[in-house]
Amino acid sequence: MSVTLPALHKLCPGFPVPDVDRDADTSPVLRAAPGGGFPTVRPRRLRSSPAMRSLVAQTRLHPQQLVLPMFVREGLLEPREIPSMPGVLQHSRDSLRRAAADAAAAGIGGLMLFGVPQHRDAVGSAGTDPDGVLQRAITDVIAEAGDAIVVMSDLCLDEFTDHGHCGVLSPDGSVDNDATLLRYAEMALAQAQAGAHVLGLSGMMDGQVGVVRSVLDAAGYTDTVILAYAVKYASACYGPFREAVESTLTGNRKTYQQDPSNATEALREVALDIAEGADMVMIKPALPYLDIVRQVADRFDVPVAAYQVSGEYAMVEAAAANGWLDRERIIMETLTSIKRAGAGIILTYWAPEAAALLNSGTFQD
Ligand code: PBG
Repeated sequence: MSVTLPALHKLCPGFPVPDVDRDADTSPVLRAAPGGGFPTVRPRRLRSSPAMRSLVAQTRLHPQQLVLPMFVREGLLEPREIPSMPGVLQHSRDSLRRAAADAAAAGIGGLMLFGVPQHRDAVGSAGTDPDGVLQRAITDVIAEAGDAIVVMSDLCLDEFTDHGHCGVLSPDGSVDNDATLLRYAEMALAQAQAGAHVLGLSGMMDGQVGVVRSVLDAAGYTDTVILAYAVKYASACYGPFREAVESTLTGNRKTYQQDPSNATEALREVALDIAEGADMVMIKPALPYLDIVRQVADRFDVPVAAYQVSGEYAMVEAAAANGWLDRERIIMETLTSIKRAGAGIILTYWAPEAAALLNSGTFQD
């Protein structure tokens, strides 16, 4: 039904009328409006001021739900910038301790540690050496901040193998699933012994959660938590990370990481990992896979994490450096999207900065 302006004025003399159609007999504006008149339901009312928007905001970020991934390189005396991840460092042993203490002081919820060894071999021996770079880092960080922050370690062989794959290889060059599980079991014990609160199983081998859970339990580490990178896609977003850990990989990880075109398979991976004893599950990368985050959060009853990976970080930093994006706003917008999609925990290289913005209360989009 359309309403003419004169008729409307007769009904409600105070009704505000757009100037453009004041003299027209029939207003195209009014004719186009649903119901034929001005709206009585106005969602814009709830967006009218910063205080009003804050009152009705549905998704809120907290530093406690952020986890900071950190790199520590064996033999470094001073921290070193990672060129493709401006602002992110390869830490020395000392700078790692200081940064971990700072993260705890900022109220960040957790740290995820990655080690870069000086020597690599076919089976990734440094990954299970009690004096290996990652084991030492775990012990250091636990001593420094372990009461205040959850200390997690990456459980995967790729930083430690000379071929750069996440597992050990068969004679034909393919990744040998079951031989790799034995190495993961040894790694789990080394990391648990070093004191890690949470083991982040990121290798995408079949059965890895079950093997690690049973070996931990048999050795008495019944309280060590397993965070399964249950859903890890073979993504191009890991490029800068491979620079950060000085990866030697040639080729790709498509025989073990998931095909980006598949969603159902992700749900199967999560169900299997939970059945094998995963305490928490992760989806990775985050932003290109928010549909998966949502489906997993809706279907499963364990904490869901998402990893905003190195390429997601680098894309924003590169655009911001060119002045093409408002850096702080885009950081907070991406983190909010990941949270809104259903992730309770977010791994992000921006954790210190996001925590500072949230703690200061100055960030107002
Ligand atoms: C494997 C691992 C990777 C990342 C985290 N754990 C690399 C890979 O699968 O190639 C990538 C994280 C990132 O890109 O930020 N140990």
